[in-house]
Formats: sequence, C-alpha cells, structure tokens
Amino acid sequence: ESTLGAAAAQSGRYFGTAIASGRLSDSTYTSIANREFNMVTAENEMKIDATEPQRGQFNFSSADRVYNWAVQNGKEVRGHTLAWHSQQPGWMQSLSGNDLRQAMIGHINGVMAHYKGKIVQWDVVNEAFADGSSGARRDSNLQRSGNDWIELAFRTARAADPSAKLCYNDYNVEDWTWAKTQAMYSMVRDFKQRGVPIDCVGFQAHFNSGSPYNSNFRTTLQNFAALGVDVAVTELDIQGASPTTYANVTNDCLAVERCLGVTVWGVRDSDSWRAEHTPLLFNNDGSKKAAYSAVLNAL
Ligand code: XIL
Repeated sequence: ESTLGAAAAQSGRYFGTAIASGRLSDSTYTSIANREFNMVTAENEMKIDATEPQRGQFNFSSADRVYNWAVQNGKEVRGHTLAWHSQQPGWMQSLSGNDLRQAMIGHINGVMAHYKGKIVQWDVVNEAFADGSSGARRDSNLQRSGNDWIELAFRTARAADPSAKLCYNDYNVEDWTWAKTQAMYSMVRDFKQRGVPIDCVGFQAHFNSGSPYNSNFRTTLQNFAALGVDVAVTELDIQGASPTTYANVTNDCLAVERCLGVTVWGVRDSDSWRAEHTPLLFNNDGSKKAAYSAVLNAL
C-alpha cells in the first residue's frame, strides 16, 4: 500500500492524525492529511473550553469544521475529550463539588448529543493520574469532587451515546514498569469487574528524552487488552522522530489484536505542539521523513 491509512486498513486498523481547524485552509496540510490518514482527532476543537465556553451554551463551530472535513473526506473521528483537568473554560475552573459534577454531566450530555452516533471512540476522561511514583490520582477540581468522578463520567457517556466506544486516555502510561501505568491498570480492572462501562484505553505516546519509548510497551498493550478493553495509540509523537522507534510503536500495535490503530499528533513538524522536537512524520515542506517510510514498511 502507498498510504498510511490504506496500509493500516489491511489489518483492519486505522492510521490517524490530529487536525487543527486553523490549518484547514493550508492546502499542503490538507492534501497530506487527506491522502495519508483515515482517522481524525480534533487537536483542540472538541475540548471543554471550545465546546462549552459559557455554562450551558455550547459552540460547535470549530469542532464541526474538523468533523465535517473528516467525514467529507471519508474519515472516521475520535472525540477528544469530555472530562479533563486542563483546557476547562473559566466558569468550570471555578466550580467544585456537586456543582462541578453536575456541570461535567451537563457537558458530556451536551457534546455527546451533538455528535450522537457519529464518533467511533470518545476520550471520556483524559489524564486523571499523577506522574511520578505515587500511583495516585492527579489533583484537580474534578478529583476533589469525589474519587468516583471518572466512573460517573463513563456512566453518563454510555447513556448519552451507546454507539461510541468509551476510552480512558493518558500519557506516561506506556512503560509497564511505571507506577502510573499500574494505577491505570488497576482502575480499568476494577471498572471491568464492577461493570463500569469502559471500552478502550488510549495511550497518548508522547515520547521524549524524559519519557522515552520502552519495548515493554507491547506488554502494556497486551495486558490491558487482556482485561477486555480495546487499546489505541492516540497522540503519537517522538522527539527526534527515530524511524526505529516509530516502527517499533507501529509493530507493537500490530502485535496486539485489540489494538484499534495509531494516531499521530499532527501532520508536519511545524504543526506539532512540540515543533522544536521535530517529532512527526512529515517535514515542514510536506516531504516524507525517514520515520514515515519506517511506519509504512511496518504496516
Ligand atoms: C495539546 C495541543 O496539541 C495543543 O495545541 C494545546 O495547546 C494543548 O493541548 N495531551 C492531550 C492533548 O490529551 O489534548 C494535548 O494537546 C497534548 C497532551
């Protein structure tokens, strides 16, 4: 196959990218994105601050630009993200306790209703665990509202759109030996045991010198899949874009039957939130990097 999406489809998987609505007028960007990828995540446009800038007043203008571009070009869409400590609108940042929980429920219901039946996977909860060796939840207004806020989010999401796969998504959870990975594993195991509706786990896979790729990532993916959830690589970028590391991540997904696909977090290096790391598959002029060929050959 000659494109990432078509190559991934040979094994029933997808290859996706983050799309930024502000770049959709850049024809170099859109021609690469349209040619190579068959799954789209809105880089910022479906986040809480973008979709509910005032409490109870939803705005899907940017989100729909990304969604419509994707669907008009034959792609599927991952929804990102419904409950998160970051990129909350000001009104939500100042909430706490039961008022915040009601606001979270209202937000999930409002966004999922708008996209009901149209989103293949939703990142229901993003980044709820702390970094480091504690294995604890991350402190946030949501966490302070009660430890069960995550399952409340998932139960709300299931009722709002039963057709979407519901994912928990996080970073620094790729290395099986890390406390954060183990904490996420315990939560997913507990959710499956108690019937909390969770379908998938997203591994962001932002690899850099501080949190490098480790070959035990495949073990991590296998162990989560064995709990009875799908897994996905949701925001892949690699500092320096080592072709070997890109091939390894691709092969790790392919080795796990329940790995749905891989999404890279942007198209060209200049599109990346970490552009200085030159972490992506395309150069700024749109040409393919060595990492691109490494991924295509692995698929
Ligand atoms: C990043 C975007 O790429 C940036 O444009 C934005 O300024 C901050 O958020 N984990 C996530 C993503 O789940 O939503 C983040 O995206 C990167 C880290």
